[in-house]
Amino acid sequence: MKYKIGHSTSIPAANPKLRFEVFRKKMMEATGKVLDGGNYILGEEVENFEKHFAQFIGTEYCIAVNSGTDAISLSLLAVGVKPEDEVITTSLTAPATVSAILNIGATPVIVDVEAPEYCISTEAVKAAITINTKAIVPVHLHGYAAPVKELAHLAEKYSLHIIEDCAQAHGAKMGDDKLGSLGICGAFSFYPTKNLGCMGDGGAITTNDPSIAQKLYALRNYGINTEGVIKSNGKNSRMDELQAAYLNIQLPDLEDYNKRRVFYAKAYAVRFKDYADLLPPIIEGANYHQYPIRLTNRDDFRGRLMEKGIATNIHYELTMKDHPNFVKYCKNIPNAEYAARHFVSLPIQPEILDVHFEEIVSKVLLTLRELQAY
Ligand SMILES: Cc1ncc(COP(=O)(O)O)c(C=O)c1O
Repeated sequence: MKYKIGHSTSIPAANPKLRFEVFRKKMMEATGKVLDGGNYILGEEVENFEKHFAQFIGTEYCIAVNSGTDAISLSLLAVGVKPEDEVITTSLTAPATVSAILNIGATPVIVDVEAPEYCISTEAVKAAITINTKAIVPVHLHGYAAPVKELAHLAEKYSLHIIEDCAQAHGAKMGDDKLGSLGICGAFSFYPTKNLGCMGDGGAITTNDPSIAQKLYALRNYGINTEGVIKSNGKNSRMDELQAAYLNIQLPDLEDYNKRRVFYAKAYAVRFKDYADLLPPIIEGANYHQYPIRLTNRDDFRGRLMEKGIATNIHYELTMKDHPNFVKYCKNIPNAEYAARHFVSLPIQPEILDVHFEEIVSKVLLTLRELQAY
């Protein structure tokens, strides 16, 4: 099976519709059930999802919200970050991580990453801490665990809060612990291309802290607390019943789905063994949300592979320093700049690789050989 992208016929880099096809029957039934039920906001689908996602991550609480961006912003508010406070984060991430900090009026302090995972560098965080620092937002980039346990030592020493950006880390682990259970809050996105995705927007926060959880239930719902009154301002950031229903259908299969990603990441590593220096690391616990290889002649590679019918993606072409809105918050970030110029993500979505793995491998190898000969 091939898919049309623009005018060319190609294997896509990612395609959430393929996941919908797997769950089509259940999702169509759930759509009818929710619509017939007449309760579209904060009903039993959201409650079920919160209960089961908290169990899945291993936290006491899960608060469903309407995006990963809000999950970060509301977490920062709930732990008490105020306007002008500094929040340290990474230079290689979706811009949403930084927007989420700016959205609450805090000041992002954007530091470098380090190989081999290209997550935030503990040393860089340490060097960036000031009297105004209140929180750290590490991102588990591409499904690799950021160094949360090392950061926890710094957090303890300087009384900082760690909000894990888990937008790419559903089900990924560090040792026996699921990511999202290690910081004071874990902030998840369910953007459709994520390892667990909505058919629209959605997000969630996981936490073990009962008072943070109560603040978050209020913050996502205009600020209304358990007594039904508003003591501090909130916003509307509720997940709707339809999105929760779609997540409830997929959640039981997330573990298996991640295993298939691990299988394909390992299979790529075997088949591309002659190019081991270019490959992302195989690390226990990673969920391979992306599979970025590193190439000096990336554009040429992408063009040649596209001519052979295989699309790739770049995560991320721009570091935070390349965004005019963020540049003034950036420290020196050579490793992030290296990644932004060299990374190219091969397809890793299981539904694509189940059908096209051999074709992708042979065409990638052919293209790499062409580039060497060139
Ligand atoms: C690392 C990271 N943080 C935050 C977000 C923002 O999530 P959302 O699009 O659900 O607001 C994303 C989504 O792409 C992401 O990848």
